[in-house]
Amino acid sequence: MIAHKKLPNGFEYIEIKNSTTEAKIALQGAHLFHYARVGEEPILWLSEVSDFEYKKAIRGGIPICWPWFGFNEDKSLPQHGFARTSIWQFISSEEVDKQTAALILRMTHNEETLKMWPYKFELELHVIISKRLTIKLKTTNKDEKSFKISQALHTYFGVLDICEVTVKGLDKKPYLDALTWNHEIQTGDVTFNQEVDRVYQEVDGEIVLSDRNREVYIKSRGSSSVVVWNPWIEKTKRMSAMKEDAYKSMLCIETSNAFADARVLKSKESHTLKADIFTKPL
Ligand code: BG6
Repeated sequence: MIAHKKLPNGFEYIEIKNSTTEAKIALQGAHLFHYARVGEEPILWLSEVSDFEYKKAIRGGIPICWPWFGFNEDKSLPQHGFARTSIWQFISSEEVDKQTAALILRMTHNEETLKMWPYKFELELHVIISKRLTIKLKTTNKDEKSFKISQALHTYFGVLDICEVTVKGLDKKPYLDALTWNHEIQTGDVTFNQEVDRVYQEVDGEIVLSDRNREVYIKSRGSSSVVVWNPWIEKTKRMSAMKEDAYKSMLCIETSNAFADARVLKSKESHTLKADIFTKPL
C-alpha cells in the first residue's frame, strides 16, 4: 500500500506499508522520517518532539543536506543547505512486488534557490523500501558553469543504549574532529562516552553499527566520507526538537561528500550518492 497523506496542518507525506516494512517520507525535504521492519524496532530514529512544519527540518530520519554540508561561509544561509526544507515534487511510486516499493522525488532550481545558490540543478531521490533500504541522491548540473557540492544523507539511527554501541569499519581512517578542528586518526572501533562530531575521510568499505540486539550495515557508493555525530548531554540541551535524554537512543552515521570529499560537477554532469542499509539480528 502506498498512500498520500496529510497531517492536520497540511504537512504532506507518503506512507508505504507492505508485508515486511513500513515507511513514511515527507514531501518537504524528500525526508524519510520512518523506516521499520514489521515486528522490529524502527531502524531510523525520530525525535518524540520533532516538528512537522514547513520550513523547519524534521529532527530524525534522513534529512538531506544539500548543496552544502554544515555551515555556509555566508552565515545568513541555512546550515546543511536548503534541500531539507524545500518542497520536492512527487514523480512516481511503484509497488515492485509484495515486499518492495520504489519512489522517486525531485527538486529543481527555482527563484528562491537561485538567490541562495546561483546554479541551475536537478536533484532526484530514488528510494527503495524493502527488507533493506536503498537511497540514491542524484545531482545533475543543469547550468552552463561548473558547481561544487558537499552533501550528506544525514541518517539518524535508533539505538538501545549509545553507551553500548560500537561502529566498525573506520579503524585507521583519518578524520576531522569538528569539535576541535584537529585532524586525527581513528584507532579501533568508535565508541561513545562523550560528544562526537567527526568527518571520517578515505572510507571505502561498509560501516557496521553494532547495538545490543542487532547490527546495522551501511554500504555507501559515490562517497568516501562518513560523518559520525552524537551530541551527548550538554549539546542536546541546546538542540532544537530534542528531549534532554534523546542522545541516549540515537546516533547519526551520515553517508556524505563532506569537506575534502566535496564534488565538482561540470555542466550536464551528474553524481549519485548512495546508501544501502540493512540489519542482521545478533
Ligand atoms: C551534524 C553535524 O551532521 O548535524 C553537527 O556534524 C550538527 O555539527 C548536526 O549539530 C545537526 O545539525 P542541525 O542543523 O540539524 O541541527
